[in-house]
Amino acid sequence: MTLHIQKLPSVLGAEVTGISLRTLTDPDTLAQLRAGMDEHAVLVFRDQPLENEEQLAFAERFDGTLHSKTSVAVLAKNRFGNEALTDISNVGADGQILPADHRLRMSTISNRLWHTDASFENPPGRYSMLSARVVPPVRADTEFADMRAAYDALDDATKAAIEGLQVFHSIAYSRQIMGFEFSEEEKQRLKGAVHPLARTLPRTGRRSLYLASHASHIVDMAVPEGRLILRDLSEHATQPQFIYRHEWRVHDFVIWDNRTTMHRARPFDDKKYRRELRRTTTLDLPLPATSTATVAA
Ligand code: OGA
Ligand code: MN
Repeated sequence: MTLHIQKLPSVLGAEVTGISLRTLTDPDTLAQLRAGMDEHAVLVFRDQPLENEEQLAFAERFDGTLHSKTSVAVLAKNRFGNEALTDISNVGADGQILPADHRLRMSTISNRLWHTDASFENPPGRYSMLSARVVPPVRADTEFADMRAAYDALDDATKAAIEGLQVFHSIAYSRQIMGFEFSEEEKQRLKGAVHPLARTLPRTGRRSLYLASHASHIVDMAVPEGRLILRDLSEHATQPQFIYRHEWRVHDFVIWDNRTTMHRARPFDDKKYRRELRRTTTLDLPLPATSTATVAA
């Protein structure tokens, strides 16, 4: 089998066939996948059973340094023994479904708000990769919104108005508006970060919005004024024409570019059914010259 990247019917996303990620080391194929990420922003792979160590190793081969300062890491010790393998599940350390009022559930349920991973850190997340281990018998999808298409669809006056604006992102903020409070000590470990509202992607030159539920306010602007701009842009960027909705199967592996997309989990009965995914996220560090050259070739 050879690598095949088939665009999905939505504005973003493609399905990749013909490779096994657990054994993939060939630099040319990895470069083709990175080019596929640049074009499609979300890549979907079916039938990729991965052990935890294999998932971690693939993520590093694909894009370098892993993100481990997650909000989940601040709340609980990682049950897999590695903070770089984020537990995206409704299951606790004892392997049982979390009780409704458990702090971990109260915080991670906010993944149902549109966001981009680790925007409250510097460097933020670049690629996130979810491996589906246990999928409930009911729909429990993830939606992705294309922030490049959303930027392109803005009128010129809006593009000019947001040019150069900087945004403060904080997970304490996105959780607080949901009624979840981190302790003072936890907040110390989650201080937030500033990022541009519109950015240019280095390899493609495409413009993109950088929004998230974590986006608290626009720097040097009255807070309500900035928040209204962020809300309007989010509303615009999450219209149906910008969205791909992923319906999970066991052993799916999905990679998305946090610089050019937002995503959110859709609700399901998480007090009744298990859903277990594992995430690896890379840091948005400058790419080594060699890998940039390979991708550009
Ligand atoms: C994540 C996330 C959404 C979901 O893993 O970062 O937001 O559907 N997941 O679980
Ligand atoms: Mn997320």
